[in-house]
Amino acid sequence: MRVVILENAKAVANFGADKIASLIKTKPQCTLGLATGSTPIKLYQQLIEQYKSQQLSFSDVSTFNLDEYLGLDGLHPQSYRYFMNENLFDHIDIDKRNTYVPIGNTSHPDQACFEFEQTLKSKGGVDLQLLGIGRNGHIGFNEPSSSLTSRTRVKTLTEDTINANKRFFKKEEFQPHLAITMGIGTISEAREVLLLATGYDKADAIQNAVEGPLAARCPASILQLHPNVTFVIDEKAAQKLQ
Ligand code: F6R
Repeated sequence: MRVVILENAKAVANFGADKIASLIKTKPQCTLGLATGSTPIKLYQQLIEQYKSQQLSFSDVSTFNLDEYLGLDGLHPQSYRYFMNENLFDHIDIDKRNTYVPIGNTSHPDQACFEFEQTLKSKGGVDLQLLGIGRNGHIGFNEPSSSLTSRTRVKTLTEDTINANKRFFKKEEFQPHLAITMGIGTISEAREVLLLATGYDKADAIQNAVEGPLAARCPASILQLHPNVTFVIDEKAAQKLQ
């Protein structure tokens, strides 16, 4: 595991964007694993800028997103499909047919999870998986106590995650408590993993993931076993590391 500590969130975003850009340049048909949440937004802005200045093309890139709320369709402003369109896909030359976000508005979620895994497999797996981390150490929506070998499935969100994500929903708006998420086993199969974290809020989770025991209590700790993982964090998120 490599841990890169940078001055601030902007430097973290630049580092991540450069890493993704250089993969796309060496392998234009690559498959990216993508995350939502506030952490990767600046990175996506960087990628959009590189596309607009003609340094980068996404025309042959495929993407698989980590997760989606169960019960929200892709037109719902809080859905992760909507987030990805707004924050990245609508601003670059990617073919949207090659962008896969788990289907949230389905009455057959288990089937949707199975098909998501099958499609990922048929595309040859993820070359580079981008991750954020929850305050409780979750990756994707794999909350503490998730099986470390889990596959894409439906998970119940913890109170902590629901509260952390309340900021994205209007006061009276329905906030789902269930999500479809890639499993920890699925994430671990990515050939390379890049986890970004910024801010004091993430300091405990980063300490547990990097220095703590390998434990279902901190799902991100599984990454200690990954042969090619880089944590890119700012000084605030690094403050509890020894
Ligand atoms: C998002 C995801 C989550 C977030 C995590 C951190 O697709 O899978 O694991 O990465 O909740 O969220 P932010 O970046 O908003 O702090």
